[in-house]
Amino acid sequence: MHRTGVWQSAILTRAEHGTSTGQALSGAGWLDVHFEACRPEYEEMLRFVGVPPGARALDAGCGSGGYLSLLAEIVGPAGSVYALDLAPENVALVEERRVSGDLPGLAEVREGTLTGLPYEDDSFDALWCANVTQYFGGAEFETVLREFRRVVRPGGIVAVKDVDVALARLYPADPFLFPHLCERSLQADPEDAHARGSLRGRELRRWLEGAGFREVRQRTVMIERWAPLQPAERRFFGDWLSHLAGLAEERGVPEEDLAAWRSLRDPGSPDHPLDRPDAYACEGQVVAVGRVPEGSEAGAS
Ligand SMILES: C[S@@+](CC[C@H](N)C(=O)[O-])C[C@H]1O[C@@H](n2cnc3c(N)ncnc32)[C@H](O)[C@@H]1O
Repeated sequence: MHRTGVWQSAILTRAEHGTSTGQALSGAGWLDVHFEACRPEYEEMLRFVGVPPGARALDAGCGSGGYLSLLAEIVGPAGSVYALDLAPENVALVEERRVSGDLPGLAEVREGTLTGLPYEDDSFDALWCANVTQYFGGAEFETVLREFRRVVRPGGIVAVKDVDVALARLYPADPFLFPHLCERSLQADPEDAHARGSLRGRELRRWLEGAGFREVRQRTVMIERWAPLQPAERRFFGDWLSHLAGLAEERGVPEEDLAAWRSLRDPGSPDHPLDRPDAYACEGQVVAVGRVPEGSEAGAS
């Protein structure tokens, strides 16, 4: 099982969340807690994709490997699972977990980038990519979708899951807390790929259609948690809100929002809003699934 116990809540900096690649929210400790807190909905999202038994499947941007066990279970003994990630420390951890037997069914984990996948054309029957495309600007995301289409065989499946941060909500708190932060983030830096990418969730279907995928379908899932939160849920939402509170200060949210964000900065605070008996926290995630065109379809796109 994954070692969620190593993660200690604290006021988090972007570096503490991240990896050596400099990306926030991509470190293994954080990813393990996030996956555990949202496991029922996240597993349901992977099942929604419909990866067939026997498939050769790639987890593109596997992080600490949260989805790999379920993916292996879905493809079954006749299938095979491959994983790839940009961050060498995440690749090393997944390899360690594979060797120790924590990830049965994982054939190989490789270091590489989604913008230039180190695989031959038509290498896979299915590709799963969770919470990675939020890091890409529009042009980079188009490149990534072309790469997905290249490495998955005609008729195969590509699934992209990602957050839509505008769907986040905390109670009790001003319902506009998150929308204000999103708006300020883009105003502060219109070129901030992560700020824009974190809002792309509900557009994914249109992006896949634009990239020529067929029979594209999309599902939005709200991960809603009510007090009393389970330990992993408390740690995930506490740490995520701490991260967002740091961004809120940096990006200059409206003055009237600052007190609320400051109350969220320290996840261990004795007065933390998540510990109220009426607390509610929600994040919204979206999965879009498409089929790679085949035969005469391929020429038409
Ligand atoms: C938020 S984590 C998600 C990990 C995992 N898919 C999950 O949902 O638990 C994003 C992951 O994508 C990886 N990543 C970011 N940019 C990448 C790129 N260009 N190519 C491959 N992996 C990338 C990061 O290193 C990190 O492990």
